[in-house]
Amino acid sequence: MTDQKSKIKNQKSPITKVGIIGAGTMGSGIAQVAATAGCKVKLFDLNLDQLRTAEDSLENILSRLVEKGRIEQVEKKRIQENISFVPQMESLHDSDLTIEAIVENLEVKKEVFTQIEHLVSDDCIIASNTSSLSITSIAASLKKPERCIGIHFFNPAPLMKLVEIIPAVQTDEKITDVCVSTIKSWRKTTAVAKDTPGFIVNRVARPFYSEALRMYEEGMADIPMLDKVVRQMGFRMGPFELMDFIGHDVNYVVTESVFGAFYYDPRYKPSLTQKRLVEAGWLGRKSGRGFYKFEDGNKIEPD
Ligand code: NAI
Repeated sequence: MTDQKSKIKNQKSPITKVGIIGAGTMGSGIAQVAATAGCKVKLFDLNLDQLRTAEDSLENILSRLVEKGRIEQVEKKRIQENISFVPQMESLHDSDLTIEAIVENLEVKKEVFTQIEHLVSDDCIIASNTSSLSITSIAASLKKPERCIGIHFFNPAPLMKLVEIIPAVQTDEKITDVCVSTIKSWRKTTAVAKDTPGFIVNRVARPFYSEALRMYEEGMADIPMLDKVVRQMGFRMGPFELMDFIGHDVNYVVTESVFGAFYYDPRYKPSLTQKRLVEAGWLGRKSGRGFYKFEDGNKIEPD
């Protein structure tokens, strides 16, 4: 892991207009971060219900922050005024930076990257929030692949300090520098990671999930017990709580992608238990049920 050198420390970011593609868990969180930092953000999703949910959810999150005295009402208004929720990708045409946060599927992402490149100016940086896919491969779908980069936030984006910056093989060094200084100006910590499957965090995290799943499948302990023990070790969440929080659809597909990208190394083998949850639509907190049950997004403690 290398962090950027002092040359970019005090640079002012040239990024003021940010377009975000995908208003799900990550896209809406990233929009909040960028808008809080003063950028004008356009948050786009094909799904109108999802756009509405993202707008309502931002209202709830900011209202809670006001109630708790963490921000003033005027700050809430400023953040909301900085974000537009847009149902057409064309609205992103004047962005300085676009960040894609849609489904973790290489072909779908490539298609979206091709579409976005047609809309934006030649200077616009085109980034992906992918957790595991090859940035180099995504970049290859562009006519100007040197402006493509991975900017990988963690969930929940407004709270998690770390952001991985992943230059593709083709990425211009200046683009990496601009992204590092921009993300730092958004009050985040950056780690520049090589473009390898899962980058740093998601590669290290795979055994955290898969070993816990194996222990459960072997009948070694039940899920609440495994989570409790890991929490008592000092982790904020146990592995099952964390998978429910991330979403099994997202988490499973990342494991599958890392497994395939490492030529089916058994260390990264996905779990059938998790696959069944995905098939059942038990995606975790966002669907109301995963390993645990949820009400209004809050975990119901098992008896
Ligand atoms: P999500 O399922 O919550 O949201 C994805 C959104 O993209 C949906 O609202 C969907 O309607 C929209 N969408 C799909 N195709 C689209 C298209 N062609 N154009 C516009 N919108 C489209 O997914 P989530 O969890 O936000 O993940 C998004 C990306 O971020 C994935 O690549 C994932 O691997 C990555 N990621 C996820 C994290 C997590 O903990 N959930 C953490 C870090 C990265």
